[in-house]
Amino acid sequence: MSRLCQLLLIATYAVAAKVFEVPHAPGQDDTPALLAALPNFTSDATILFKKGVSYNILTPIVFPVLNNVEVRIEGNLTYPSDIPTVQAIVGSSSFSGAWFSFSGGNNVTLRGTTDPKWGWVDGHGQAWWDAMQQVNRPHGWAFKKINNGVIRDMKLWKPVAWSFSTSGSTNLHAFNNKIVAVSNSKGFPFNTDGFSAGGTNMSFENNWIQNGDDCITVGNGAKNIHFRNSYCEGGHGLSIGSLGKGGQVADVQNVLIENVVMKDSLYGARFKSWTGGNGLARNITWRNIAFIDVPFPIYITQNYWDQGVGPQPNNTGTVNNTRIQDFVFENFAGTIQDKPFVEGSCVSDPCWYAVTNATGTEVAIFDLYPNTASNIVAKRLFPRTQTGRPATVLCDSATISTDVGFKCWDGKFVPTKAGLF
Ligand SMILES: *[C@@H]1O[C@H](CO)[C@@H](O)[C@H](O)[C@H]1NC(C)=O
Ligand SMILES: *[C@@H]1O[C@H](CO)[C@@H](O)[C@H](O)[C@H]1NC(C)=O
Ligand SMILES: *[C@@H]1O[C@H](CO)[C@@H](O)[C@H](O)[C@H]1NC(C)=O
Ligand SMILES: *[C@@H]1O[C@H](CO)[C@@H](O)[C@H](O)[C@H]1NC(C)=O
Ligand SMILES: *[C@@H]1O[C@H](CO)[C@@H](O)[C@H](O)[C@H]1NC(C)=O
Ligand SMILES: *[C@@H]1O[C@H](CO)[C@@H](O)[C@H](O)[C@H]1NC(C)=O
Ligand SMILES: *[C@@H]1O[C@H](CO)[C@@H](O)[C@H](O)[C@H]1NC(C)=O
Ligand SMILES: *[C@@H]1O[C@H](CO)[C@@H](O)[C@H](O)[C@H]1NC(C)=O
Repeated sequence: MSRLCQLLLIATYAVAAKVFEVPHAPGQDDTPALLAALPNFTSDATILFKKGVSYNILTPIVFPVLNNVEVRIEGNLTYPSDIPTVQAIVGSSSFSGAWFSFSGGNNVTLRGTTDPKWGWVDGHGQAWWDAMQQVNRPHGWAFKKINNGVIRDMKLWKPVAWSFSTSGSTNLHAFNNKIVAVSNSKGFPFNTDGFSAGGTNMSFENNWIQNGDDCITVGNGAKNIHFRNSYCEGGHGLSIGSLGKGGQVADVQNVLIENVVMKDSLYGARFKSWTGGNGLARNITWRNIAFIDVPFPIYITQNYWDQGVGPQPNNTGTVNNTRIQDFVFENFAGTIQDKPFVEGSCVSDPCWYAVTNATGTEVAIFDLYPNTASNIVAKRLFPRTQTGRPATVLCDSATISTDVGFKCWDGKFVPTKAGLF
């Protein structure tokens, strides 16, 4: 063996030595052994869930602060299949808030595998959906407070609640992930949000998301968020918010969402803030959105509210509201679902998503408060309805002072000057 070969071998060994293979014991919870070993692998290490192994993650994993660490999910991971067992853990005071939690750190990669047979994280959501069980559900992956993070090639199978949350992280790249929260019965996959983007400098791309809530939701405090080249099916839209609940002061800036297919989703592009909020959401663009059988392709409301609590609040002019500025909806093409339908998350009459005076043919609904929205424009919209009826809009001209790209009224969709180029 040449000297060079020996050196290379030593170098390879030096890296390989830092690989921790998560042990597995059939029929037992694999979390305790991992947690016991983790303190020795918090930096310059790979934590490997091996291909060929189905791990039992019967109790939650909280990773310590990590630096230069890759967590590789090459085997299958399963939650407990028994609902009360999970509920007892989620309901306990020591629960961290998600089944898999990160605590912070720098240069952390969460990586699945491109092998289609392995790397699935099975939440056993079907049983929860069939039972309409929403108490103490386990959220998925809290990728918190990570600077320079990557989430790639992850595959979630029937997650029970939200999938990925990135609150407090910066410089994140999330790509090639797959979320399959699809029910094979009437049970609906409630609140299975795809990505909750909270933080700064985040790029989400090439993700495949089938779920029952927001495909992406951009939360308060988020800045410089880019979501693109993705597929969203069955959920509740490309969403900003909700913002301003309970008077919260919102701050969301610089969001670009582009090149997305929205199929059988309740909403396409969506903004929601609560009456009585405060603060500002600005510079938000949705462009190149293909929508297939979507009831509400473009929907903005500054009056999001909880029907369970009472009637929609009035704007008396005395409370503050979340201001919105520089919103662009550009190049939207597809079909509006305008036949009578009941979306799976509808459990009330009227449904939570019912809009007064809507006919089902609306390509855009702007439900705005006066003097709070500026420079909102929708251009190059190419809607068709399933029934062939003309597309319409809902828009109160008393709430805006600029050309929104279409005639602002409750009526037929008529593009205006700003909407044509
Ligand atoms: C951590 O590493 C040290 C030194 O190699 C070793 O003595 C100790 O047993 C390890 N701890 C665990 C929990 O593996
Ligand atoms: C990030 O961590 C990985 C190990 O997961 C390491 O190989 C890489 O060199 C680190 N990058 C930087 C810039 O330190
Ligand atoms: C891994 O889990 C997925 C989802 O539950 C399943 O379809 C697949 O068959 C499993 N792979 C193996 C090799 O057991
Ligand atoms: C976000 O990216 C910008 C531009 O690259 C950079 O100036 C800024 O420091 C980054 N923010 C954080 C919190 O890392
Ligand atoms: C608006 O947001 C986009 C996308 O994040 C960004 O590239 C651009 O610089 C922002 N413009 C302003 C004026 O802040
Ligand atoms: C809003 O105003 C209408 C008409 O003035 C009134 O009937 C309704 O009760 C008010 N709603 C609330 C929540 O105050
Ligand atoms: C409205 O906003 C202003 C300025 O942020 C604040 O001083 C005031 O307390 C707010 N009023 C309410 C009712 O929240
Ligand atoms: C619904 O339409 C009626 C009749 O045009 C109008 O008086 C009412 O203000 C509309 N309601 C809303 C919430 O737009």
